[in-house]
Amino acid sequence: MPDAEPAALLELATSLARRAGALLAEASGRARTEIGTKSSSTDMVTEMDRASEALILGELARSRPGDSILAEEAGTKGGDGPIRWIVDPLDGTTNYLYGLPAYAVSIAAEGPGGPLLGVVHDASRQETFTALAGQGAWLNGVRLLRPPAPALDRCLIGTGFGYSSERRRAQARLLPTVLPSVRDIRRVGSAAIDLCWVAAGRLDGFYEAGLGPWDLAAGMVVAEEAGAWVGSVPGGAELPDMAVAAAPGLSGPLTALLEEARDRAGRP
Ligand code: IPD
Ligand code: CA
Repeated sequence: MPDAEPAALLELATSLARRAGALLAEASGRARTEIGTKSSSTDMVTEMDRASEALILGELARSRPGDSILAEEAGTKGGDGPIRWIVDPLDGTTNYLYGLPAYAVSIAAEGPGGPLLGVVHDASRQETFTALAGQGAWLNGVRLLRPPAPALDRCLIGTGFGYSSERRRAQARLLPTVLPSVRDIRRVGSAAIDLCWVAAGRLDGFYEAGLGPWDLAAGMVVAEEAGAWVGSVPGGAELPDMAVAAAPGLSGPLTALLEEARDRAGRP
């Protein structure tokens, strides 16, 4: 399948995301009960992360041998063809570890002209978000059309935090400006799902500093194809650039708020 149509690639990505999601979901009960018997609480998650990624990468290597792959665990792999897959085999690792909902498999493909498609499968809710560049976004096959955002002070904004203390300290410094200016904040625990929830109207906007391409690639296509604005706001002292998604009408107010938050955070 060297030069498959994007729709065929989307079908492949959807089937792989659902299969990997089923593998994760099947073990999530086990993750909860076996944690006490493993050498560390993250062992089980690491094992499942790797199993999910091995399934996806194995199938991609078989059906798309010329394509290259960027995956969270394995890094860069594969051929020198024009298509690149970007894979996060388990986004929402902490939710998965604690038996909370909202963990997902995220698969995107891009060509020489940019993103082609995105699939985010939330295995905890059996929700598959799909998008084809220029053609739209869907949730379990139903078209997503993101309605406009309310005024900023009535917006529900998703965000997330990295793993290192330094990153968290810089991210926390944004909150004194952001939190009083919006309806509320949610920390869902999966950036891929946050972006899809902006598409689905469950969040009005989302931002997070320092995400990896695997966290963002598929969810960004879903959000954009549903009609949301996706972009970034440059970071500041100790703060990497922020990825941003915003419902129609919110990109100006949200990016202005994040710039203000960043500038205030940089002040002693
Ligand atoms: C994390 C999630 C989380 C975000 C973190 C990511 P992981 O990915 O997307 O919501 O706040 O920055 O690293 O570790 O669950 O794959
Ligand atoms: Ca991730």
